[in-house]
Amino acid sequence: MAASETLLFTPIRIGGLELPGRLFKTATAETRASADGFVTDELVAFYRLLAMGGTPLIITGNIYVSRQGKSAPRQVGADHDDKIAGLARITEAVHAHGGRIFAQLNHCGRQVVPDFVGATEVVSASAVKDLLTGTRPRAMRADEIAAIVDQFGEAARRCRDAGFDGVQMHSANGYLMSQFLTPYTNRRDDDYGGTPERRTRFAREVLGAIRSRVGADFPVIIKMNGADALPLRDGLAPAELAEAARIMETAGVDAVEISVGHYESGFPMVRGTFDLCLRNMMAGSMAHLPPVRRTLLRVFRPLVAFASNLLWKGREGFNLDYTPDFKARLTIPVISVGGFRTRATMEAAIARGLCDAVSAGRPFLADPFFYQHIRDGTPGPHCVDCNACVGHLGAQPADCYHPRVRAEKDAMLAELGLG
Ligand SMILES: Cc1cc2nc3c(=O)[nH]c(=O)nc-3n(C[C@H](O)[C@H](O)[C@H](O)COP(=O)(O)O)c2cc1C
Repeated sequence: MAASETLLFTPIRIGGLELPGRLFKTATAETRASADGFVTDELVAFYRLLAMGGTPLIITGNIYVSRQGKSAPRQVGADHDDKIAGLARITEAVHAHGGRIFAQLNHCGRQVVPDFVGATEVVSASAVKDLLTGTRPRAMRADEIAAIVDQFGEAARRCRDAGFDGVQMHSANGYLMSQFLTPYTNRRDDDYGGTPERRTRFAREVLGAIRSRVGADFPVIIKMNGADALPLRDGLAPAELAEAARIMETAGVDAVEISVGHYESGFPMVRGTFDLCLRNMMAGSMAHLPPVRRTLLRVFRPLVAFASNLLWKGREGFNLDYTPDFKARLTIPVISVGGFRTRATMEAAIARGLCDAVSAGRPFLADPFFYQHIRDGTPGPHCVDCNACVGHLGAQPADCYHPRVRAEKDAMLAELGLG
């Protein structure tokens, strides 16, 4: 076997933590918590299966740091000490099977449909309306920013106390930290806006608040965009985002995971096909859009699906175009997410020095034993990038909703006595 063919199973260090392999489960908003954000049996079971499959690192779906930062109805929270005991049930289940798990911490900022979560006010870096949802946030005062920074720190402390092996700052995909980085969504002229350095200030303060609670040795990683993908708007290009990542490395993050796009970008984050996705969306989160937007989407859905299928056609490792800019500037591990489906593509990405590790989302929804199947070369239910799961995002538990693939998954779990 050529050396490059074993790279995926070579250990990697993130901060002080050694992981046995380089294919991770990335964040997928699990939507399995109770209505008030507490951990449920259903949520624990989701992670237990991933750990049983030998997944070297599991990153949770985004966890809200405050009620105001919540983006979906059954999202889990780390906003209060009374959540710690439930969160500990997750880490105990994962550790019992030898797994490792990081908590992804998030505040959604303007990227929310207020009626979907019952939000009364939406805040962001600046008052820039979201073109997809029509949500217009209010620009935050400096004291409000300081309060959110503190909430991230406290949420990280709770996650560490609950036994998580690390945390991930969600600074990608147009959520609040990403809204501060991007000039299009950050029009501030105070210490948090203007220059590239100042636009990273919020993320640096969040990191500082986290470090002050968890210490220097606890792994803290960040998810960032490799490109903002905001044509005709003032979004960031790969070199600019890589420079922001360099600033975050200097400030003390232990690894960076590279994604792409804001919600306003369309679907570059989850390439594939979009017919099932849009149909499911209309019954879920988009049912809560303002009436004009909802009607427009309903009427033009087939056209939007057709255009999306052309624009964001699926391909393997689709964010690898951006990672060279990051690899050139950083010494910490660079993780690439997006479209990894076959062992050959994953091995090649690492062997070519495009990234140090890869992560995957939808393949693990289709097959919680994806890592084991890739490692052993055995077949399992295979994600077909239909994005039915994305359509149900926030409204139904994150799972595979492709009829055939889901049937294969259910049959596999039933055969293993895990159904
Ligand atoms: C159902 C679903 C939920 C997601 N939730 C999150 C999330 O909570 N946080 C996040 O950073 N990315 C989230 N993503 C994006 C994934 O992390 C990942 O970037 C994307 O699915 C592309 O990777 P893949 O091709 O391996 O699925 C989600 C994706 C899906 C499909």
